[in-house]
Amino acid sequence: MKWYPVPGIELTGEPFIKKVKLSGKGIIIIGYENNLYALGSTCPHAGAELSGGWCKEGKLICPFHRYAYDLETGKGDPGQNDYVDSFPVEIRAGEVYIGIETFWDRVFN
Ligand code: FES
Repeated sequence: MKWYPVPGIELTGEPFIKKVKLSGKGIIIIGYENNLYALGSTCPHAGAELSGGWCKEGKLICPFHRYAYDLETGKGDPGQNDYVDSFPVEIRAGEVYIGIETFWDRVFN
């Protein structure tokens, strides 16, 4: 697992959705109810940009057709049969880090 710092996030407790590109991947970092989450930024249903979505009851809602994805796991609601990637988030010395599995992690695990 390689960890990437994401500068410029102020942890004020206010909700936010911020899109970043890390290791070639579009990722949205979500602040919601005093927790941080990181999910893939593209909706698997029809490719919408999820950074334009919003959070409701522990889920990220896609702005196009309102599909819902669990903030913790990225799993789609029952019946959707889809998911978005989810990434671990850590705060180190006040800075946000996102963990991304490397090729070698996949080979050796
Ligand atoms: S593109 Fe996201 S729900 Fe259809």
